[in-house]
Formats: sequence, C-alpha cells, structure tokens
Amino acid sequence: PLVSMKEMLNIAKENQYAVGQFNVNNLEYAQAILEAAEEEKSPVILGVSEGAARYMGGFKVVVTMVNALMEEYGTTVPVAIHLDHGSSFEKCAEAIHAGFPSVMIDSSHLPLEENIALTKKVVELAHIHGVSVEAELGRIGGQEDDLVVDDAEAMYAIPAECDQLVRETNVDCFAPALGSVHGPYKGEPNLGFEQMEEVMKLTGVPLVLHGGTGIPLKDIQRAISLGTAKINVNTENQIMQTKKIREVLAVDTEVYDPRKYMGPGREAIKETVIGKMREFGSSQKA
Ligand code: G3H
Ligand code: ZN
Repeated sequence: PLVSMKEMLNIAKENQYAVGQFNVNNLEYAQAILEAAEEEKSPVILGVSEGAARYMGGFKVVVTMVNALMEEYGTTVPVAIHLDHGSSFEKCAEAIHAGFPSVMIDSSHLPLEENIALTKKVVELAHIHGVSVEAELGRIGGQEDDLVVDDAEAMYAIPAECDQLVRETNVDCFAPALGSVHGPYKGEPNLGFEQMEEVMKLTGVPLVLHGGTGIPLKDIQRAISLGTAKINVNTENQIMQTKKIREVLAVDTEVYDPRKYMGPGREAIKETVIGKMREFGSSQKA
C-alpha cells in the first residue's frame, strides 16, 4: 500500500535499520525498485526529484504509474512516494495535491529563520493531508539534477540549530548535512558522526542520510546506530544501469530494440537495490 514515511521511519528507527529511498527516473526504475522491495519484503521509498518528475510527465503521471504497478504486482510491502529536495512551497503543494504521500522541503540554502518559516508552512499543509515532511539543514555537497552545491558552499549542520528547526516545525524526519555528498565521493566520505549523535539526542526524530552512493558499510551501520532511519540512493543505480547497458551495446552492436538493453539495465537496478536493502537491514521487515 501507498503510505507516508512517518510510521515506516519511526518503526525503522526503533528497530535499528534504515529504509532506502531509491530515486525513480523512469518506468524501469519504478518496476525494478517495487520488484526488489516485494522480493526482499522490505518497506521502500520512491524518491522523485522535480527534474525526474518533469522528465516523466509530471507528479500525476508518477503517482498513476506507481499505483498501477503496485496493483499489477499485488504489492504488499509499504511504499512511499516522496518528493526529493522540493524547492518551494508551491512545488510541495503540487506534489501533495497530485497524491504524493510524502515531501521534502529543501530550504537549506536559506538563513535559519527563513528555512524554519518555509518548512513550517509546508508541514502545516502536508499534515492536513496526512503527508509526511522531511527538512534539511546545512548544505549537502555535489550535484543532483538542478541542485548544485560546490565544495566551498557545502556546510555541516549545527546541532543546536537542528534542534530548533525540528522543534519549531514539527517535521517527521530530518536531514542534517554532515559531510555526505550527492554523486560519487572524491576519496572516502568524512561524515560528522559526533554531530549526528548530538542531533539524534536533541531532536529524537528519524534522521536521513543523503548521498548514499559510495558510503562504506561500516559508516552506514554507524549512521543507523545513531538514529539514521532513511538513506537516499540515486547515483549508484544510475551507474549500474548504465554500465550494464554499455556492456549489452558493446557485445551486440546491431541491437536496436530498446527492450533488449533497457531490460538488462532494469535487472541491474533491481540487484543494486536488493543489495542496499540488505545493507540497510530493511529486508524481511515488512
Ligand atoms: O536525494 C537523493 C540522494 O541524496 C541521492 O544521493 O545520488 O549520491 O546516491 P546519491
Ligand atoms: Zn539528496
């Protein structure tokens, strides 16, 4: 069933595992991720960036596509569709009205008071509709779609400010930027675990780790032990899908039927997602 993230993440936090948010770029991603979740008996979050939604034809197309697939598959595990890095109140409202059960408002580029004010406004609307909300503080480096943050702009969240934001906005989960990066890491990630522990103690809400691609298992496990209940992965699926497609095209230079290479690409996404669900400990939890 399609659900918000609230219960899903509270249960994950209590039981010391994390639910994966896997970003959807097109039909094959939705298929691969839903199949992986059902096979693994894992709750799952389908992340949709504004850019990806535009690519697929809009928020309504995404909701209709996912609902149709879930009906066809007879999906039994909890599934959330979540607006990833929502850029404005208007975009969040549009997603909510299109049927998204969950949204992120990313006003992390604004000064604290403005970030809080905008997040609060989104929470007020969202909660009327039973929709869960994620907020961010600090700035996650790297690039995801329209969102580009260079090294100099990347910023660690300050725990006291996180506490204030969570208390004043009533968000359901929270992403403190603590050194994670969108896209591949340059060298080993250097996550701020001390701040993460402090944020967890101060706020008590499930924490979200963005930039899940390329984080070593030991860091994943440590983050989960410190209250991380949602981990976002996008780039790794894209890399594995594209690698597979390149292989198929290199072996058969005559192929032109898209199903002959998109199909294997879809399998690569599914295998990658299954691997992550096992690493995050969400397998067999639904
Ligand atoms: O919001 C989405 C994620 O944070 C994805 O990060 O592309 O580095 O896996 P990633
Ligand atoms: Zn992100």
